[in-house]
Amino acid sequence: MSKRKHLVAPSVLSADFAHLYDDIAMVNQSEADWFHVDIMDGVFVPNISFGFPVLASIAHYAKKPLDVHLMIVEPDRYIEQFQAIGADNITVHAEACTHLNRTVQSIQELGCTAGVAINPGTPVSHLYEVVEDVDLVLIMSVNPGFGGQNFIESTYRKIMELREMAAGRNDSLLIEVDGGVSSHNALALLKAGADILVAGNAVFSAKNPTQAIAELKKISPDLISV
Ligand code: DX5
Ligand code: ZN
Repeated sequence: MSKRKHLVAPSVLSADFAHLYDDIAMVNQSEADWFHVDIMDGVFVPNISFGFPVLASIAHYAKKPLDVHLMIVEPDRYIEQFQAIGADNITVHAEACTHLNRTVQSIQELGCTAGVAINPGTPVSHLYEVVEDVDLVLIMSVNPGFGGQNFIESTYRKIMELREMAAGRNDSLLIEVDGGVSSHNALALLKAGADILVAGNAVFSAKNPTQAIAELKKISPDLISV
């Protein structure tokens, strides 16, 4: 069981884009740790989110680290631009990278932390050769492309498998879970070994988003196991 305090990263994809500043300010003032920002190209996933101008505006007002999740093909073409615009962590999809180790290295050479994401259909074993090199692994708990989808239960097993694979090889590896995360499954995810909870719908569709973030923060596997 992880003794590290987990992080909460609200996913901006579920924000109100007509009032984006207000939602950014809410996250700034909340207990959230990171901004999770989804970039979709309409090719790797069947949806298009937003690009550099919107991300630059978010970066301008965000007072917390930007966790950029690239759901795009050939991410190498753009990582420099994402770093320049203010990304702190850049996560690429394993399925989108022909030379995954090289992409991870390029991200780190730019001074960002590097994450690798895997789709629900991709086994954890696919990460065996990169697990020592990455800062973070993002386990998709829905098929990527949209907010508000139902959580896929096999995620728990994948987190445990990954934690076991990383043991002794990369003990500081951060495991992030993205998709369908809410106060209903957060405790079980933390118990399985997750470090970072991404939440879109569960935060931005809540009556009180600040409170929803606080609830995700206060969940603790340690408190219950006493
Ligand atoms: C899905 C995105 C997620 C999404 C999560 O492809 O990567 O970050 O915003 O949204 P919820 O929490 O609503 O499933
Ligand atoms: Zn995401």
